[in-house]
Amino acid sequence: MDSPAIVRHISLADFRNYEHLEVSLEPGISSFVGRNGQGKTNLIEAVVYLSTLGSHRVASDAPLVRRGTERALIRADVVRDDRSLQVEVEITAGKANRARINKSPVPRTREILGIVRTVVFAPEDLALVKGDPAERRRFLDDLLVQRHPRLAGTRADYDRLLKQRNALLKSAGAARRTNPQDVTRTLEVWDDQIASLGAEITVSRRELADLLRPRAASAYAELIDSGDTIDFDYETSVPHLATTDIVAAREGLLAAMAERRRDELDRGVTLVGPHRDDLLLTLGPAPVKGYASHGESWSAALSLRLACYDLLTEEAAPPVLVLDDVFAELDASRRAHLAGRVAQAPQVLITAAVAEDVPALLEGARFDVMDGTVERCG
Ligand SMILES: Nc1ncnc2c1ncn2[C@@H]1O[C@H](COP(=O)(O)OP(=O)(O)OP(=O)(O)O)[C@@H](O)[C@H]1O
Ligand SMILES: [Mg+2]
Repeated sequence: MDSPAIVRHISLADFRNYEHLEVSLEPGISSFVGRNGQGKTNLIEAVVYLSTLGSHRVASDAPLVRRGTERALIRADVVRDDRSLQVEVEITAGKANRARINKSPVPRTREILGIVRTVVFAPEDLALVKGDPAERRRFLDDLLVQRHPRLAGTRADYDRLLKQRNALLKSAGAARRTNPQDVTRTLEVWDDQIASLGAEITVSRRELADLLRPRAASAYAELIDSGDTIDFDYETSVPHLATTDIVAAREGLLAAMAERRRDELDRGVTLVGPHRDDLLLTLGPAPVKGYASHGESWSAALSLRLACYDLLTEEAAPPVLVLDDVFAELDASRRAHLAGRVAQAPQVLITAAVAEDVPALLEGARFDVMDGTVERCG
């Protein structure tokens, strides 16, 4: 196992409600406590952004930039094996972001991926099991890019091509009546590129699901003494798509696109590919979604996150654990279990509205968060 990377200092400028913030952190547990709406989640969101180049709660960058300003800055000093590294990202809503490592600009922001790695537990996690497939795709992708930063490029290229292909399908829907051959030929060029990228994403996600499965199952069994076991399947938009290797998956996607071309032209959207896949979670014989109780759903969500933590830890080093307001949501036994599981992690960042929500086992450095300021207080 490698040494873990520890975030030792965070600087923010015009990020969310922080005009300017400097906060130094130590290894171990730090709790950020303050009333609602003061900036606790905003602070940890900044750390999460460095690890995935996205927020854990909003899909676009615009809300991250402080109202009335144009550009937000997140900078962190990260220490690993006594070596210090500074990572920085500048977020400009609606324009390309920029990143620096040790003050030197890097050609692509995604080059900072992998330096800070996080696993986040948050109240929104319930949506991971109860919500739309998009939540579960994002869950897998956020973990994928931390393990293989290159895939962030594949994802971005795929999303861009998908948008362009959808635009083409919309306009071609009308044109095909007059010029069907032209439409088919143009689409085939796109299909080729998009199927290659799509195959890579599909196979990577399926492999990741396989790695998470046993870890989630044992985490779930620890949370629930008796009952069903948790399981999941990576479900592709194409039935029986080969997902064991990229070449086979690519061919399967191409065949499915050819087969569904008429539907795609009618509806003006791409109907097959990883943007329509899902991670199907089951508890014993039934799907989690629609069947599991509230407590079971929470346990399922927690076990998925714990599986991420265990996988990252085994593969490289423990990531920074982020527990955003999560203890207030859990019953006593899940709270105690989670506290026990994370107490020894190299770095844990906790937010809570009141100090009493933080389990005694997780008493560490305490910071008061008030209206965009953060003060060490214990
Ligand atoms: N882009 C922005 N510019 C300025 N202020 C913002 C921006 N985005 C969010 N805020 C403000 O930040 C505050 C929310 O901060 P945050 O979500 O960190 O709260 P919190 O301390 O975690 O509260 P809670 O305990 O309710 O979770 C809100 O008052 C919101 O208006
Ligand atoms: Mg919050």
